[in-house]
Amino acid sequence: MSAERQKTRAAAAALSYVENGMTLGLGSGSTAEIFLRLLGEKVKEGLDVRGVPTSQRTAEVATENGVPLIDVDHVNRIAITIDGADEVDGRFQLIKGGGACLLREKIIAHASDLMIVMVDETKLVSTLGKFPLPVEVDRFGFSLTAGHVYDALRKAGVTSPDVQLRRKGDGLEPLVTDGGHYILDAACEAIPDARAVDQALKAIPGMVEHGLFIDLARVVIVGEDGDARVMEL
Ligand code: A5P
Repeated sequence: MSAERQKTRAAAAALSYVENGMTLGLGSGSTAEIFLRLLGEKVKEGLDVRGVPTSQRTAEVATENGVPLIDVDHVNRIAITIDGADEVDGRFQLIKGGGACLLREKIIAHASDLMIVMVDETKLVSTLGKFPLPVEVDRFGFSLTAGHVYDALRKAGVTSPDVQLRRKGDGLEPLVTDGGHYILDAACEAIPDARAVDQALKAIPGMVEHGLFIDLARVVIVGEDGDARVMEL
């Protein structure tokens, strides 16, 4: 079955967690956009929810689908954040940020009572790290910061990291996030200890946020052939 259909199965299953009156964190990426389309249909049928978008793109897609939005600074409680991921391990640790939205995604997930992650089967891994770890950094001194990211990864047990500045599709201009920062993609092959990497990266001045999501997701929904598998911690 195609990843697209698996993502749709996962998104449909995530919808069953949504209740009338909820404020929702709206994730970013292709799976989150499928969820927004399905959520928009429920809103048209009368479901009363409001969403806090985690990217400009998500805000646009939500609006196109009729999902009402609320300003993040007018919210004091978010019931559920529903988002995709680039990798998920057996402890529900995630790599996110393939779409460069990790900072806002993590702020909103952290402010939510529950984070639900929707993925296709290809995202499940035994050890994180095949997908390059996105690290959002201040633009000032980013080459210095990249050197510190390399050192921190080595110190945290990654044997030979390769840290590259993410560029736009043209391959020339650096990609700039919604928050005005750069992204460094750290190819690690394997991350043996996600918590050690989290701690080491957090010690670097200029490191704004990284794409390891630890102790945030409590529900993972995997789209599969025929159905969706719901796993809860
Ligand atoms: C956005 O920055 C990411 O964290 C996405 O949630 C992640 O890349 C998953 O995207 P897809 O749903 O498109 O695979």
